[in-house]
Amino acid sequence: HTTQLVDPFGRRITYLRLSVTDRCDFRCTYCMSEDMVFAPRAQILTLEELYNLADAFIGLGVKRIRITGGEPLVRKNLLSLLRRLGERPELEDLSITTNGSQLSHMANDLRAAGVTRLNVSLDSLQRERFAGFTRRDMLDQVLAGIDAAAEAGFKRIKLNSVVQTGRNDDEVLGLVEYAMARGLDISFIEEMPLGSVVSHQREQTFCSSDVVRERIEERHTLVRSSHVTGGPSRYWQVSGSDTRVGFISPHSNNFCGDCNRVRVTAEGKLVLCLGHDNALDLRSLMRAHPGDSERLREALVGALQLKPERHHFETDEQVQVIRFMSMTGG
Ligand code: GTP
Ligand code: 5AD
Ligand code: SF4
Repeated sequence: HTTQLVDPFGRRITYLRLSVTDRCDFRCTYCMSEDMVFAPRAQILTLEELYNLADAFIGLGVKRIRITGGEPLVRKNLLSLLRRLGERPELEDLSITTNGSQLSHMANDLRAAGVTRLNVSLDSLQRERFAGFTRRDMLDQVLAGIDAAAEAGFKRIKLNSVVQTGRNDDEVLGLVEYAMARGLDISFIEEMPLGSVVSHQREQTFCSSDVVRERIEERHTLVRSSHVTGGPSRYWQVSGSDTRVGFISPHSNNFCGDCNRVRVTAEGKLVLCLGHDNALDLRSLMRAHPGDSERLREALVGALQLKPERHHFETDEQVQVIRFMSMTGG
């Protein structure tokens, strides 16, 4: 099969972010509301449907799959899906973005299943602050999980920190040094306005990547790195160490021109851009025509015509995407 996924702007889609659950054992303030209502189980794609969908994308040239949530590691029997995907030679990369809460007991199994890279969210190294961000007092489990992952032999582990002025901007150096001590990468993220998260005022806590970089450069030399993952991060190498520092700056540096990705929510909606609500219901299609992989592939190719050119997080804070971050896993 030689059909590829190309959008109207000539961008080739080779990367799929596949959400396997909308549930999570944390309630991060920027991601969910405290009283989040999760989708009924029947509306969540089965592991078989997830595999078939991934297979259709692989048939259309997708080379990288990132498994997301919610928290992907709370999905029952996720390992069986990962093992099947891990055996696909077409995939150059099978990665997971996780909150780390389950890593201390799962890291080895994930590696053995064929997961190549892990991204772990970590916004603070202070117990009370961590609990403030996540609404759960689980910092120790997460740190133990990161250590277990570092031991398990992944190709690369990256930490993710959403930086907020007055909440954790004073921890930037501490987080970089924590990463350096373990040979990990770390990305600092500008918060994106998704879902109606009423509990905090984003304008007051916004912290730009330029400010974060200056903080780091007070103590370390950063050298622009040519490292590309095909993602939105721009990387810098901390000189004298293995650590790369990435900046994901939807507000201060638009990266949509190089977008290579689409997302599928746990309910089977194909989301063409993180910053837009338009989506195609793949679950209905798959359930109406089970096993019809040709029809599925055609639907995917057609849907790509609807991929928006870019998000507008930077120009208008009022642009409200209704979908919460937890539904696409970022
Ligand atoms: P790789 O590209 O696989 O290396 O990882 P990543 O850093 O893009 O993914 P991760 O799941 O760690 O997400 C980190 C942050 O990047 C999250 O806040 C995501 O929402 C954000 N992100 C990832 N892809 C996109 C994108 O296409 N657009 C926007 N606006 N944000 C993105
Ligand atoms: N803006 C930016 N990043 C976010 N994440 C969750 N919500 C937001 C948001 N509103 C990050 C998490 C995790 C990744 C999947 O997305 O911290 O690292
Ligand atoms: Fe869970 Fe990740 Fe959302 Fe936090 S950011 S609530 S860990 S899905």
